[in-house]
Amino acid sequence: MSRTRWRLGLSTTALLTASALLPSPAHAEAVADYTITVDPSAQGPAIDDTMYGVFYEDINRAADGGLYAELVQNRSFEYSTDDNASYTPLTAWAAEGAAEAVNDGGRLNERNRTYLSVAAGSTVTNAGYNTGIRVEEGRKYDFSVWSRAESGTTLTVALRDAAGTLAKVREVAAKGKWRKYTATFTATRTSNRGRLAVTTTAPAALDMVSLFPRDTYRHQPNGLRKDLAEKIEALRPGFLRFPGGCLVNTGSMADYSADSGWQRKRSYQWKDTVGPVEERATNANFWGYNQSYGLGYYEYFRFAEDIGAMPLPVVPALVTGCGQNRAVDDDALLKRHVQDTLDLIEFANGPRTSEWGAKRAEMGHPEPFHLTHLEVGNEENLPKEFFARFERFRAAVEAEYPDITVVSNSGPDDSGATFDTAWQLNRDAGVAMVDEHYYNGPQWFLQNNDRYDSYDRNGPEVFLGEYASQGNAWKNALAEAAFMTGLERNADVVKLASYAPLLANEDSVQWRPDLVWFNNHASWNSANYEVQKLFMNNTGDRVVPSKASGTPAVSGPVTGAVGLSTWATSAAYDDVRVTSADGKTLLSDDFSGDASRWTHSGGGSWTVQDGQ
Ligand code: AHR
Repeated sequence: MSRTRWRLGLSTTALLTASALLPSPAHAEAVADYTITVDPSAQGPAIDDTMYGVFYEDINRAADGGLYAELVQNRSFEYSTDDNASYTPLTAWAAEGAAEAVNDGGRLNERNRTYLSVAAGSTVTNAGYNTGIRVEEGRKYDFSVWSRAESGTTLTVALRDAAGTLAKVREVAAKGKWRKYTATFTATRTSNRGRLAVTTTAPAALDMVSLFPRDTYRHQPNGLRKDLAEKIEALRPGFLRFPGGCLVNTGSMADYSADSGWQRKRSYQWKDTVGPVEERATNANFWGYNQSYGLGYYEYFRFAEDIGAMPLPVVPALVTGCGQNRAVDDDALLKRHVQDTLDLIEFANGPRTSEWGAKRAEMGHPEPFHLTHLEVGNEENLPKEFFARFERFRAAVEAEYPDITVVSNSGPDDSGATFDTAWQLNRDAGVAMVDEHYYNGPQWFLQNNDRYDSYDRNGPEVFLGEYASQGNAWKNALAEAAFMTGLERNADVVKLASYAPLLANEDSVQWRPDLVWFNNHASWNSANYEVQKLFMNNTGDRVVPSKASGTPAVSGPVTGAVGLSTWATSAAYDDVRVTSADGKTLLSDDFSGDASRWTHSGGGSWTVQDGQ
């Protein structure tokens, strides 16, 4: 046995974060000795290559205006007040002359309902995302538009900013019924403030007005923004969990109805997101904007394959979560979702001769995507209702595809009644893998390094699908790294782990912290990203057991605060009491006074009324 003694240049308190715990200056100077004992001849658990991966959700505008390389915002005029109170079908567009969004029988197709009717001599201009459309000198940009116009109509297409033209103007001769037209620009100047303008010589209907950089990730059509995709690829993720989160387990689970028109605010349902892009109905995104589904299931599978990651899709379980807690009681609908899940497996893995394998081949990928895992549900707060439905999915998948692992979950928290009930149900039913989520402070991560040491080795395996230590500061990254050593030590039970969320457009942030940040022309990594990269690029084969002695103990008083909050609702609170484990009251308030101890942060409002 070799024994190594290292002198670590850390004060014993350097890992603590709460200011109330800061040592006196004299104490801060102290340097302690620690001993790490490594036994290279002993064998700990094997670590799977897939252990560390990424969780991608279309939150913080991670898709449109983010990873999806489309430069035109609201290209199909489908933005709606259903998505966001400030939206109209003309959001991101400006008109000189007459232009009107129309939703009538002259539409492009049933799932792309609104189009733009532009009068002769008028110009419509798109503002892109963030400060505008980003173009780089010398690079090519592919324009396309669907148009319906009389023969002899000319569409003039220009790329410009306030300082002038950004590329040679293009002309498109439109004729007759709906048809797709294309043109290519080469940028003569770099700009982050570009605008795309279309002028028509005669009345014209326009839809799917699109501009893509030629230089997408791997030069793929309908492709991904290169810098963002490459940042994800550089992590070398073992898996890609997609498409969400709350995105999946919220909204309506109902059937599409052509009679009532497109039903918006649907949960993310994979069949809505495949096929020709102009036939993918856009939808309200749970995070308060519109999602085009241009980046859909085919593109996710393709991306997973390109970066060498195992695809891990999440389908809704017909129990909503994320503040909408409701179980959908509709057996026919449940059966349809179960069938959709079987079809998803066929879409990913089926032969070209199968119905859904043929669709995949038609989209450009005759070979299978090798799906091995899929998750049903996300963070349901109603564990019993969730589990009853989960079992229907699992039974159907196992009957037809016994090699597919169906992943369950344990609710939105690291512990508590929902967590315990969900785990019990999963354990009793012999579920293969359970997804855990938690967003806690850095101190929690330091204190819970041993969380999985005591997990049952005969129970379900753990997929830590979402975690973050509530900050992008260096101390957060360090706390996460420390915690990850605990995941790795328990690699026999923790099989998969991913930080969350992955991407954030700096101008549309619904959730922070995030791993990678961007705007329309730049992207930058967080300290947390560097930690993830370090672990993912250096995944070991096997744990070598080690012991540390005299490790810094979390000592001194633990201080903090208690928060009361709501999400999209109102609530009254009274008689708040926090007690210590030995029964001492640490805080109590019956709101009979002035509530001066409480401070307000975030949105919404509150007031003390009638002693509540
Ligand atoms: O990662 C952000 C959100 O956190 C996810 O959508 C959800 O699963 C969790 O609550």
